[in-house]
Amino acid sequence: RKPLSLQRLLDMHASGDKIAMLTCYDAAFASLLDEAGVDVLLVGDSLGNVLQGESSTVPVSLDAMVYHTRCVARGRKNAWVIGDLPFDSYQASPQEAWKSAAALFKAGAHMVKLEGGGWTAPIVRFLVERGIPVCAHLGLTPQTVTMLGGFKVQGRDDAAAAHLKRQAIELAEAGAQMLVLEMVPAPLAADLTRTLKIPVIGIGAGVGCSGQVLVLHDMLDVTPGRRPRFVKNFMAGASSVQDAVARYVAEVKAQTFPQDDLHSY
Ligand code: KIV
Ligand code: NA
Repeated sequence: RKPLSLQRLLDMHASGDKIAMLTCYDAAFASLLDEAGVDVLLVGDSLGNVLQGESSTVPVSLDAMVYHTRCVARGRKNAWVIGDLPFDSYQASPQEAWKSAAALFKAGAHMVKLEGGGWTAPIVRFLVERGIPVCAHLGLTPQTVTMLGGFKVQGRDDAAAAHLKRQAIELAEAGAQMLVLEMVPAPLAADLTRTLKIPVIGIGAGVGCSGQVLVLHDMLDVTPGRRPRFVKNFMAGASSVQDAVARYVAEVKAQTFPQDDLHSY
């Protein structure tokens, strides 16, 4: 397998070859996921929930993100690595965002991800012009779930959908080279995927995206408690963790995951 690159990811979007992405927080899983054919490893700030036992991603520090990004970068071989900019590491100014993004970039991330639209466009432009690729994140943005009033589907009515679409186009124009869409109606995500020239990676956004992402611990069924509707347990019927991840990759590529009636809105 050839190492993933920005160009290869853009080509996959253009040709309709689906992109398989999972969250990853350490070297052992980075190696396992890479071997199983996962294209993109997201060092998500979901590590606050999954590894640290916090009830939100808000307390996650930049130091923690740097540490886990370094761990993942050491374990990967061919996969593309994205590091999440955590809460309070990019909101105040483009300069603050640059220092934080540079720390993740130096730790081995190929791209950084930040949540939100509108006010983030100048930050995206600032980072991209200076050489750090950026993935945007719209829809349900966990860092601002307090403002959103809970874990609810975003972009439901026509006005909200049009607003989200404008923000996505603006972020792409600002230089974002990937977009994560979380918990948005499948038709809206499919429309955006057709409109944009950059890969759109869905989580609870339907099968019409350029690719899919899930939290690793959710799809391996080791997260305690209730799981969101869009999660599928890939350990069910699998003979090993490797097999479960390989099934995830195969189902994303074949577009048999996510299913309209089970995992989408
Ligand atoms: O932190 C994370 O795991 C994420 C994904 C859910 C997209 O941002
Ligand atoms: Na995140």
